[in-house]
Amino acid sequence: MKKKWWHGKVAYQIYPKSFNDTTGSGIGDLRGITEKLDYLKDLGVDIIWLSPCYCSPFADQGYDISDYYNIDPVFGNMDDMDELLAEAKKRDMYILMDLVVNHCSDEHEWFKKAMEDPDGEYGKYFYIEEGKDGKEPNNWRSYFGGSAWEKIPGTNKYYLHLFHKKQPDLNWENKKVREEIYTMINWWLERGLAGFRIDAIINIKKALPIIDYCYPPDREDGFVETHRMLKDAIGVGDFLTELKNETFAKHDAFTVGEVFDEREEDIPLFIGDDGYFSSMFDFNETIFGKSKNGWYDCKPITPDDYKRCCFETQEKIGDIGMISTIIENHDEPRGVSHYIPADELSETAKKFLGTMQFMLRGLPFIYQGQEIGMENVNFTSMDQIDDISTRDQYKVAIEAGLSPEEAFAAVKHYSRDNSRTPFQWDDSKNAGFTTGTPWLMVSPDYKRINAASQINDPNSLLSHYKKLTALRKDPEYTETVVYGKTVPYLPEVEKLMAFKRVTDNQTLLVLGNFGIKPQTVKLPSKCKKVVLNNVENVDFVSDTEIRLEGYQALIIEI
Ligand code: GLC
Repeated sequence: MKKKWWHGKVAYQIYPKSFNDTTGSGIGDLRGITEKLDYLKDLGVDIIWLSPCYCSPFADQGYDISDYYNIDPVFGNMDDMDELLAEAKKRDMYILMDLVVNHCSDEHEWFKKAMEDPDGEYGKYFYIEEGKDGKEPNNWRSYFGGSAWEKIPGTNKYYLHLFHKKQPDLNWENKKVREEIYTMINWWLERGLAGFRIDAIINIKKALPIIDYCYPPDREDGFVETHRMLKDAIGVGDFLTELKNETFAKHDAFTVGEVFDEREEDIPLFIGDDGYFSSMFDFNETIFGKSKNGWYDCKPITPDDYKRCCFETQEKIGDIGMISTIIENHDEPRGVSHYIPADELSETAKKFLGTMQFMLRGLPFIYQGQEIGMENVNFTSMDQIDDISTRDQYKVAIEAGLSPEEAFAAVKHYSRDNSRTPFQWDDSKNAGFTTGTPWLMVSPDYKRINAASQINDPNSLLSHYKKLTALRKDPEYTETVVYGKTVPYLPEVEKLMAFKRVTDNQTLLVLGNFGIKPQTVKLPSKCKKVVLNNVENVDFVSDTEIRLEGYQALIIEI
């Protein structure tokens, strides 16, 4: 693997709507991000990914873009963006935007023109097909439920939307569309952006001709999930090679792909030395237990499943490239609530999870609020939920026969709004996020969990994350933390998540007790030095044995 400037960095995802509001609108803004750059710098963050802040009607919270060349007024304007870029640069920080180009918004001018004349030039920017026997062209299901086709009023034609009907898919087969996209990307990179997080990218290649790809339904609604079609869609690599050559490669931009459904043998093509992207996210843990039937049917993940998923990825990626690790993002429940049993959740357990993430090989992405231990929200009714995906999954659960109470209980845990509530800065009104009315409720736990209460406490979770980011950059350990080979240690021992990170000159052993009960672990050799510990003491039973407290996470040099 060729070494790259970003390998040893720490990345952070901001969900702009919920980060910091400086105007009292109830919605976070770009100036709010600039205002907090020092907070992020102090945490040890180098690379910041902004979820979309382009113009949008917000049907899917900005992942439906109506103008790629402008900032939505709720977030500020282009001057604010330029200021953010300049202030980041002053601090040696890098800004990534979200690149959402599988689809745009139905309020984008391309789509408006396509609707005026579906057979005209702009109609070809999208996938528009004739209906079949008074029905949709085929039976693909949208990721957000129902048919992936929407009828164009006054015609027998339909347009394709793999996501929401307000997110029509762009036709990548059309060279003009690709050129429009490349021009836009280069425009942003020339403005000073360091790169992009690339949204839903595998979907840009469809199985063609679309109307030939009808499949047996996989649920009673008669539809089939999009993943099925993606298996038959050949040739995404041609698009991605062109995309890279026309844009990112010219600017040495950093890119991290949201890639699902890739074929294992294709991983080198994605993130190898000459890959389409710099990196991509490890979703092995987040997709564990997902069910075709919907969220209500998901299987909970146990500590041993989690460990297995992490190790699988480490093994699969090996030296091919650098994966990016997460415990949560804006599409997932909070990691500490998802991976740690509710009755065992504590500050120590939260530190444990962060330590595991940071010590696996990969570029760590902290999602806003993770560093202060924000938890899932105790929503009490569907009325508190905004997310379209949760609304759809609630419907799916009801259709499957669950009572409204059961359906709510089932989807509440997985709701994307768990991670989208406002950042908890302090214990003042609205957690210090806004002086207005927050667009999404503030979690009622903000008096207990907030940044202000942790900043000056050396034992807080926030301080622990600072130790983790510092360790990654510590000249004594950086080579091993960033590039060391990951070797699972005693993987068969239940509720023990242990692994070595090995370079020619150094071995770090990471020991994590993924449970509340203490356990004693044999060391492969004597401990030379304790590097990091999430509890006060190290209980050496002998020279080569350590008794770990519940959720103790220990890094030692051996
Ligand atoms: C990605 C985003 C998600 C969005 C979807 C459609 O998965 O992370 O938030 O809903 O793409 O753009």
